[in-house]
Amino acid sequence: MIRSAIIPVAGHGTRLLPATKSQPKEMLPVARKPIVQYVAEELVQNQIENMLFVTGRSKTSIENHFDSDPELLRLLTEGKKDDLLGELKFEEMAAKIFYTRQRVQRGLGDAILCGESFAGENPFIVALGDSILGMHGNSRCVTRMSELFTVLRASCVIAVEEVPAEETRHYGIVDPGEGESDWVRIKNLVEKPDPSKAPSRWAVAGRYAFSPIIFDMIRRVQPDKRGEIQITDAIQLLCEEGKRVLALKLPKQDKRYDIGNFPSYFETFVEFALADPLYGPDLKKRLRELLADSPDNS
Ligand code: UTP
Repeated sequence: MIRSAIIPVAGHGTRLLPATKSQPKEMLPVARKPIVQYVAEELVQNQIENMLFVTGRSKTSIENHFDSDPELLRLLTEGKKDDLLGELKFEEMAAKIFYTRQRVQRGLGDAILCGESFAGENPFIVALGDSILGMHGNSRCVTRMSELFTVLRASCVIAVEEVPAEETRHYGIVDPGEGESDWVRIKNLVEKPDPSKAPSRWAVAGRYAFSPIIFDMIRRVQPDKRGEIQITDAIQLLCEEGKRVLALKLPKQDKRYDIGNFPSYFETFVEFALADPLYGPDLKKRLRELLADSPDNS
């Protein structure tokens, strides 16, 4: 089983400006928690023991978030605020956390390359720091990816989600080969195809399992026209070399919440807040009232 994960969180997050001017998009709250906390908790649930965050300038709040704060703990303990103390339990997460920096934001492929020494000779997971899998990050998908990777001796397993035809132009889309109920072999990956040219509706969904061979492929990739090294290109090289590259189809309950743009961030926030056991029911009532009063309804 795979025990290590790289979490790239170094991107500029320009699509979420001005919210991301001086704070990482991965630290934006979705209901009660910052996005990256859901990601870390999901990985721990899936038996990941070592996590490497690939950070960048103005991302120090991520390190602070996962560090313990003795002053705050003392204050809450003295005030007997047990409920709030419970909210800080994640600080004792059962995984070792490491940090490194991507000094220039040269794309996701380059960010993953920053984890080469961390991964060593072992396979590893890549979990995008701006994507949550499953409601409140409850997903076993990484465990299934790890099983497929090991049992089928793959070089790469990618989580994929079915998207509506008109949305293929926003994602890396899989050209599928033979497979079984929840996985297929990938013949090729096509970056952001027009719906008429898309080989399927299976879109890359923010979680990958890689053998360390991927680092050689990343080194061979030429930067795109924005000067970025794309991981999709490195995966295409794996396919061209005849390596076993598989796609795990996400089950419906493991929906991918991509927080990279405002429409999807707003939707995710509302969906997660509505599912909050304490505050969700009142919010639902209030939203109904707001919708009934909205001018569109009159
Ligand atoms: P995105 O593709 O959403 O890029 O990154 P971005 O730069 O963060 O956002 P925009 O396009 O400017 O709005 C997907 C994940 O990869 C990380 C991001 O932090 C995010 O978690 N990433 C991206 C890096 O770590 N380094 C990079 O150079 C690019």
